[in-house]
Amino acid sequence: MKKVTILGIETSCDDTSAAVIDNSFHIYSNIISSQSIHEKFGGVVPELASREHIKGIMPIVDIALKEAKLSLNNIDAIAVSVNPGLIGSLLVGVSFAKGLAYSLGKPLIAVNHILGHVFANFLEQPEIEFPFMALIVSGGHTELVKFISFNNFKIMGRTVDDAAGEAFDKIGKLLNLPFPGGPEIDNLAKNGNKNAISFPLPMIKQANYDFSFSGLKTSAALYIQQNKINTNNENLCDFAASFQNAIVQVLFRKTISAIKENNIKTVLLAGGVAANSELRNVFDNFANKHDLCVFYPSEELCTDNAAMIAAASVFKYEKKQFADLNLNASSIKGFHQL
Ligand code: KG4
Ligand code: ZN
Repeated sequence: MKKVTILGIETSCDDTSAAVIDNSFHIYSNIISSQSIHEKFGGVVPELASREHIKGIMPIVDIALKEAKLSLNNIDAIAVSVNPGLIGSLLVGVSFAKGLAYSLGKPLIAVNHILGHVFANFLEQPEIEFPFMALIVSGGHTELVKFISFNNFKIMGRTVDDAAGEAFDKIGKLLNLPFPGGPEIDNLAKNGNKNAISFPLPMIKQANYDFSFSGLKTSAALYIQQNKINTNNENLCDFAASFQNAIVQVLFRKTISAIKENNIKTVLLAGGVAANSELRNVFDNFANKHDLCVFYPSEELCTDNAAMIAAASVFKYEKKQFADLNLNASSIKGFHQL
C-alpha cells in the first residue's frame, strides 16, 4: 500500500483543530485548541466561535505540521469537515482548506463531521471490520447507523428532539456545573447510586430505534426544583448517577435490540458522550458475556478533533471521492455520506 499523508482540518463548533495522519491511521499530530472565550456565556456563541477560528487556524496548522516534522509539500490531500455544525465556523475551515488545496494542487476531501466521529475509532483500532453498528452520541446528535461498508449504510434511528449530550449539558447548566455538563455529571455519578431515583426511560418500549431526551430532561429539571438539588446538596451524586443511568440505559437497550435484529457483531461508540464511563461500562459488560465486539475511542479522540476528520477521509481518498473548489459548508443536521 502506497503511503498517503493527509492534513485534517476541523472547525465545526468551538474547537480549532488540525492533524496529520497517514492511510494506515497513524497519527503524526492532532492539535486541538478549545476556545475558552465561551465559558462565561455557559454555551457556544456562534459569532465569537467563527472569529476565534479565523485567528487560530493558520498557527494551528503550522503547529500540526511542525509536530509531525513535515512540510506542506509532504501532504498528499487535505480533508475538512463541511457539515453539520455552526455555519460561520465551518466556513472558516472550508475556505482555508480550499485555498490550501488550490495553492498546493492537492486533492480536497469533504468530510461529514458525524462520519468523522465514527471513524475516530479506526485511529486506535485500524483492524475494525465492516459491518458494524455505530452509536453516535454527541452534543448535537444521537444517531444509530448500520454500516455494511463505507458507502453502504442505513440510518436505523435518531433523536426526535434533544441529543444525549445536549440533555447532559442542559441539566449541568441547571445545576450550575461548569460547561459542558456531560463530563461533570459523569464524575459526580462515580460517587452516587444509580438506582436512587427512577427516571423515565424515554421511548424504550417503542418498536423503533429513535430516541427522545426532552421528556427525561424535563423530569430531571422538575426533580432538581422539587428536591432543591444543587452543588451543596448531599443527594447531588445520586441524582447525577440516576440521571446518567436513564440516558445510558436507553442508548444501550436500543443499540442492543438493533444489533440483535440485524445480526451485527460489532458496535462502535462515537462522539463526545462515548467518553461517558457508564456508557462504556454497560457495553463492555455486555460484550464480555455475549458474542459482541465493542470499540470506543480514547477520551481525547471522542470529542471534536481533526484526526477523526482525516481518518474518515482515508476511505474517500482510496475511492478518489474528491471535492471540487465549489465546495461549500452547510449546517444541514445529521449524518450524511457526501
Ligand atoms: O462530539 P462533541 O465533542 O461535540 C459535538 O459534535 O457535539 O461532543 C460534546 C458533547 C457535550 O455535550 C459533552 O457534554 C459530552 O459530549 N461529553 C460527555 C462526556 N464527555 C463529553 N457526556 C457525558 N459524559 C462524558 N464523560
Ligand atoms: Zn462533534
